[in-house]
Amino acid sequence: MNDFDITTPTQEPGLGTAMEVVYQWNYDPEVDELRNLYVKAAEAQWVATRDLDWEREIDMDRFAATPLGLSIPIDQTSYWKALPAETQREATRRIAAFRLSNFLHGEQGALMVAAQLVNCVPHTDAKFYAATQTMDEARHVEVFARYIEKLDTIRPIAPGLKTILDATLTTGDWMKKLVGMQIVVEGLALYSFREMRNLTEEPLLKDLLTYVARDEARHHAYGVQYIEKCVPCLSDAARRELEDFALEAATVVIDSRTGQSFATSMLQEWATMGIDPVELLTCVQRERDELTGGPKKGRRLGPIQGFVVPTLKRLGLFSDRVAARFHEMLRENVGGAAVGESVEEFIAHLPELPRDTAAWVLGASA
Ligand SMILES: [Fe+2]
Ligand SMILES: [Fe+2]
Repeated sequence: MNDFDITTPTQEPGLGTAMEVVYQWNYDPEVDELRNLYVKAAEAQWVATRDLDWEREIDMDRFAATPLGLSIPIDQTSYWKALPAETQREATRRIAAFRLSNFLHGEQGALMVAAQLVNCVPHTDAKFYAATQTMDEARHVEVFARYIEKLDTIRPIAPGLKTILDATLTTGDWMKKLVGMQIVVEGLALYSFREMRNLTEEPLLKDLLTYVARDEARHHAYGVQYIEKCVPCLSDAARRELEDFALEAATVVIDSRTGQSFATSMLQEWATMGIDPVELLTCVQRERDELTGGPKKGRRLGPIQGFVVPTLKRLGLFSDRVAARFHEMLRENVGGAAVGESVEEFIAHLPELPRDTAAWVLGASA
């Protein structure tokens, strides 16, 4: 009996894209940074089944320290502290399943975008590098799926993440693909992987995130090194378009006013277990300023302010125009005490990008 079928019940209808395929007849190294990164990537390949010990059961007691990863520390609100310990534990487990599922779906998006980049970037070195990234992303899909299946069930993709992935896959502009994936999605992911890896005490999750985060640091470096060469060649109009693409991608997952943010999806998940979103948010509003502290207090910055925006600044994609819009969006969501009451204060307190992203992501540097 043949149980193979050409169409599968779990696939989505095809998404039409506007990608153009570009041949390149120069095979000599041309962008040395990218050629070096490609060699590094080839040397750093690992094998999920060989290099991780999958026999271990997930240690749920140690898993409980896994951070919620929210821009506001909900676990320090009086509402959260009054919840029974068992509810807190279950809420933590569910939020981790939700976050890991979105890491997983994001990895599938990255796999497909990286494969597109092989086709549409014009430089040979950039095509080579994107080929190694495609392999990395396949492995990331593999390991996250396997881990979640041990922990819980795979949750559906959050609507905001799907919107960014669709926009990045369907655009015909390869620079937008790089900005959408390498800078925004992978910037968000890198920040979250770092935080989860450094704080979780669950050994298999820690090991897995160590391998994945090392690869992701390279993917981010690819985006930075390539785009920073491209931006000075752009017209003002083209640069503005890229800036807006990055802002819109960040907004859709962070801004709760879009109705598609990660926080909105998470509150919906919690509502099913009796955590009242209105009561929780009212408590957050009331206690917000003391929870987040001021921009100078060394508190958690969150992935946009702490990593994505500093990357855009380095790339020349953070004009005053777009800075004002980022500031307005963040202030609306996490409060002026967290991001600065004025755009000047916001800009003054942006961190520098780490010099060595791989060391930063593994907690070896500030
Ligand atoms: Fe990845
Ligand atoms: Fe990646």
